[in-house]
Amino acid sequence: MFDEPRQKMLFEKVKKYFEVNKPDCLHNIDHIIRVVFWAKLLSQKENADSSITIPAAILHDIAIPKYGDANHAKKGAEMCRPFLKECGYSEEEIEKIAEAISMHSVDDPRKPETLEACVLFDADKLDATGPAALYRWLAAYAKAGLMQHEALQIMLGEIQKLKKNYCGMPFFTRTGKQIGKERFKYLEEKCREILKDLERFKEAYKEL
Ligand SMILES: [Fe+2]
Ligand SMILES: [Fe+2]
Repeated sequence: MFDEPRQKMLFEKVKKYFEVNKPDCLHNIDHIIRVVFWAKLLSQKENADSSITIPAAILHDIAIPKYGDANHAKKGAEMCRPFLKECGYSEEEIEKIAEAISMHSVDDPRKPETLEACVLFDADKLDATGPAALYRWLAAYAKAGLMQHEALQIMLGEIQKLKKNYCGMPFFTRTGKQIGKERFKYLEEKCREILKDLERFKEAYKEL
């Protein structure tokens, strides 16, 4: 999965950090692994610099355990620096990685300025689509104590918000759009399908 030893070193550091400072189950090391996978693939297809996108993917949610979801991209752009320094990254590389991390959140719908930041954004959003996302979101909402129909309604609300904020799909690269199109559609259709199935229990839910 990694192109160079310092990426592996960085990943091990983040893994250890997450073992002590636990992120929520949406942003755990499992999510990081999938985002690294997508970042690598998108970098190859888009000719982006994977020596920037892979460390950015490894570190992109580093601020979640300390600050939660709100503003974690901007905080992460600060928190990533000592990790990178310890793994031998130069100041120039650190700036590029921090820039990508600072722009990866949907809380800031502006298009990232660099190709590497677009790749990180899309890699992260690809893990919010498709079968992996359906499981990821339902598991997170179940852990938070929500019933299935409540979770699905929230998910559909989030999907609508993304569609509105990003004029259709939350992707900036051509490859992200290509891969994301079916995955995004899948997620929305499955949410509606499961919600429809849950309709039969509607009266029972009302009694709770
Ligand atoms: Fe994030
Ligand atoms: Fe993420």
